[in-house]
Amino acid sequence: MKVGIPRECAAGERRVAATPESVTKLQKKLGFEVMIEKGAGESAAFPDAAYEAVGAEVVDDVWGADIVLKVNPVQGDEIEKLDAGQVLISLVSPAENTELIEALAARKVTLIALDQIPRISRAQKMDVLSSMANIAGYRAIVEAAQNYGGFFGMQMTAAGKTPPARVLVIGAGVAGLAAIAAARSMGADVRAFDTRPAVKDQVKSLGGKFLELEFEESGDGGGGYAKVMSKEFIDAEMALFREQAKEIDIVVTTALIPGRKAPILWTADMVETMKPGGVVVDLAARNGGNCELTEPGEVVKAHGVTLIGHTDMTSRLPTVASKFFSQNLVHLLDDMGGAMNWRVDLEDEVVRGAIVLNEGELLWPPPKREPPPPPPKVEEPEPVVVAEAAAVAEPKEDSGAGTIGAMLVAAVLFGLVGAYAPREFVQHFTVFMLACFIGWQVVWNVAHALHTPLMSVTNAISGIIIVGGILQASSGETNTAAILGAIAILVATINIAGGFLVTQRMLAMFRR
Ligand code: NAI
Repeated sequence: MKVGIPRECAAGERRVAATPESVTKLQKKLGFEVMIEKGAGESAAFPDAAYEAVGAEVVDDVWGADIVLKVNPVQGDEIEKLDAGQVLISLVSPAENTELIEALAARKVTLIALDQIPRISRAQKMDVLSSMANIAGYRAIVEAAQNYGGFFGMQMTAAGKTPPARVLVIGAGVAGLAAIAAARSMGADVRAFDTRPAVKDQVKSLGGKFLELEFEESGDGGGGYAKVMSKEFIDAEMALFREQAKEIDIVVTTALIPGRKAPILWTADMVETMKPGGVVVDLAARNGGNCELTEPGEVVKAHGVTLIGHTDMTSRLPTVASKFFSQNLVHLLDDMGGAMNWRVDLEDEVVRGAIVLNEGELLWPPPKREPPPPPPKVEEPEPVVVAEAAAVAEPKEDSGAGTIGAMLVAAVLFGLVGAYAPREFVQHFTVFMLACFIGWQVVWNVAHALHTPLMSVTNAISGIIIVGGILQASSGETNTAAILGAIAILVATINIAGGFLVTQRMLAMFRR
């Protein structure tokens, strides 16, 4: 089976649907033969020679291939170059391109729209929208930095001090999170807002501040996408932004609800409120824009603020964008069986979601997916025996009962020891029992996230034990105390060394 990669002809497009690396995988791993149009990878820094070096055919016409891989939808005379039996895989935006779909249906082509791949875990590796949004979010910050007249991070120099740039990211989806990460890495003070509260932790983990409304309405529309919010919510959100506009230097807007025009969230009066020199990067420009004054595809100035409406952010990083895009395609072709077992399996959730035409037959939009079944209900306990009901509803009660049991055992032990043992022993025994009890409670009740600092404390305690052990063991006599002292030194040393090893391993996991 032959795969063909034409040169992209959309104005300003610099990406390509295959890189020499992906061509190697298509050939060696999936068994395809690959043809690539002359100069197709040139603007993404992949010369023809690089494709030839990995065994691809560099030709003038690739349209006779069984499968044609493209970035953008076909246009103009490209449509007539496709015929019955051929498979075209590219971005399509079927809702906006009905005429194109009719033309390809008439030619009995099979059309798979990469932008329609469902956002499910299994399909993440094929999700070009997410790969491209990630790049767009990063590039948004690069564009902002280029147009902003100041530093992103705080600077303290002999000539004076500048505060960090204040960045607001509206919409913390894939692009928004990438923008937050990039702005934080440059030292900016970043805050973000999203209608989906689920992203709050992700924003915080990247070092951003999550802005919240005192308004009970979740924007989660399922599958990681947003839903349309009530007018009251949008009004409250706008009031929040109006306040933010007074201090914000840079705004990156990415708010999007699939299949809809982008909501206007940054109005003309907010732009006017911003300080002169501010920058608004509107990533939703292609869908109309989140900022009222954005001009899609243009960079304009209003009230001293630069408004960036580039619709080709990913094409501005063509090498990495082509690399990710082509990698997503390799995963899709692999999932569809490669050259050996190629099949357009309509039972496959990913293929069914993305297929627009199957040999000319219109299959888009796909049938609505059944929502996942609700989690099984936990049986309500009979409210007759109060103690039992509390135990079911509050599993922690169990540990309470355990604690009481342990305390009873300790009390009995104390009674016995107190009655027969010498006074000094009773004192040491009391300290020992208390230490066991407190240690047990601390280890079980401390959150997992705090186990590392807890380990430092136990290492400090082990240090004290070693000092005590050395004092006992070095007394010069071979009695029980000296033997116990030596054992204590050994056990505490194991504890400290083990702690260091575990910490080393954990730190290595975070090292890049
Ligand atoms: P996404 O769906 O992952 O993220 C959009 C986020 O906006 C979601 O988290 C959603 O909850 C949030 N949102 C929706 N309504 C909101 C509201 N009223 N207030 C606050 N947040 C709201 O989308 P993704 O993949 O991150 O893409 C973001 C945008 O970037 C899209 O508009 C996409 O078309 C655009 N994009 C632009 C490119 C360019 O070259 N300009 C390239 C790639 C993507």
